[in-house]
Amino acid sequence: MDGRVVVIDDSRSLREYTLEVLDRAGFQVFEASNGQTGLESVKKNEPDVVLLDIIMPGMSGMDVLKQLRKDKVLVSILLFTAQSSVSRRVEGLKAGADDYIVKPFQDEELIARVGSAARRTALEKNLVKLVDARTRDFVKKERQAVFGRMVQGIIHNINNPLMAVSGFAEIITIKLLKFIKFSEGRIDEDGTALLKDIMKNMEKVSSAADMTKSIVNALLDKSRDESIEYKREIDLNELIKREVEFLKADRGLKHTIKIDLDLNPSIMKISGIYTDFSQVTANLMKNAVDAMRNSPKKELGISTKHDSENIYILVKDTGEGVSPANLKRIFDPFFTTKACRDKKKNEETGGTGLGLYTSKLLLKSYHADISAKSYGTGSLFTISIPKTNVFTQRG
Ligand SMILES: Nc1ncnc2c1ncn2[C@@H]1O[C@H](COP(=O)(O)OP(=O)(O)OP(=O)(O)O)[C@@H](O)[C@H]1O
Ligand SMILES: [Mg+2]
Repeated sequence: MDGRVVVIDDSRSLREYTLEVLDRAGFQVFEASNGQTGLESVKKNEPDVVLLDIIMPGMSGMDVLKQLRKDKVLVSILLFTAQSSVSRRVEGLKAGADDYIVKPFQDEELIARVGSAARRTALEKNLVKLVDARTRDFVKKERQAVFGRMVQGIIHNINNPLMAVSGFAEIITIKLLKFIKFSEGRIDEDGTALLKDIMKNMEKVSSAADMTKSIVNALLDKSRDESIEYKREIDLNELIKREVEFLKADRGLKHTIKIDLDLNPSIMKISGIYTDFSQVTANLMKNAVDAMRNSPKKELGISTKHDSENIYILVKDTGEGVSPANLKRIFDPFFTTKACRDKKKNEETGGTGLGLYTSKLLLKSYHADISAKSYGTGSLFTISIPKTNVFTQRG
């Protein structure tokens, strides 16, 4: 039979007998003679089933049970109980045990109960994996779809009038130049000054139109990159520049936040799905911007570097920072400190608490990770990408 089992019992003879029976039945077995080492063994061996004696000197089986449930360890827990102790059994089941085995037991019964518990755990573990994968897929697809629709719509609406603005600005400038030439000697000084002033203003219109074009292009580039779903060569420095352009295109942001880029040109290109990395970078940048909402100093620093093992992307802000207690929880799904406040004033839009969780998930298949540090003056998030992901011609 399949499955890993930890037997925690202070009675040596019973422990050894149980191990024997389970080992013969094909389980992978581990043993512990008291509660404390039992917990350690569970942590180390990640079993599917724990067989637990309730009465033990020191840490009791009930304490071990409560601790495992408190730590949300995904494992089935079976209690060893005596025939007479009905109240203990009930107490144990209430505290989160899945089943119990009455001593003395028949070998077949032990094997059958442990086997069914192991199957239950395996199912549960698969379910967790499935939920993870579905969440990842769902969040990704949803964000892409929303983004795609948004960009296509915006570009469509902006491009035509924009072409008209820059086209007409050019025509007017050419005509103005002609007119200035034509009017030489025919109009007085005031007239000439006025024409020059009009000319200057036209230049401003042209340069504003050019700026808008570059924003539209940033959006176009991004939507094009985001639509490619397969692995390919990625220049992380370029990706960061694009994400920053995109961030800047957000109204109101450019002038309030100082963005410092320190991108090391010698970092290697990697092989990956573009959106996996653009989303993670965007999530970290968005968090940094959110964290600086009320900071007097608003500086976002993004840098890249590498050492012998990893390529790093560092995102640093001068925001409110993360408390030590929250630092342990920020990567948990649905953990957020961004409450919905005044929507009309658009003061706080509220977070889903999935940004960092999804980012970690997206990086998992690259064996890449994110770590967080917080100082009194802001936070530093570091993405580490193992160099095993460096792009080679053969993929
Ligand atoms: N740069 C940062 N500075 C301070 N706190 C941060 C920073 N980044 C993340 N956090 C904290 O971590 C929490 C979780 O972040 P996460 O990105 O997962 O979710 P969110 O930003 O709240 O919501 P969402 O990203 O889904 O809109 C945030 O609510 C915030 O408390
Ligand atoms: Mg976020």
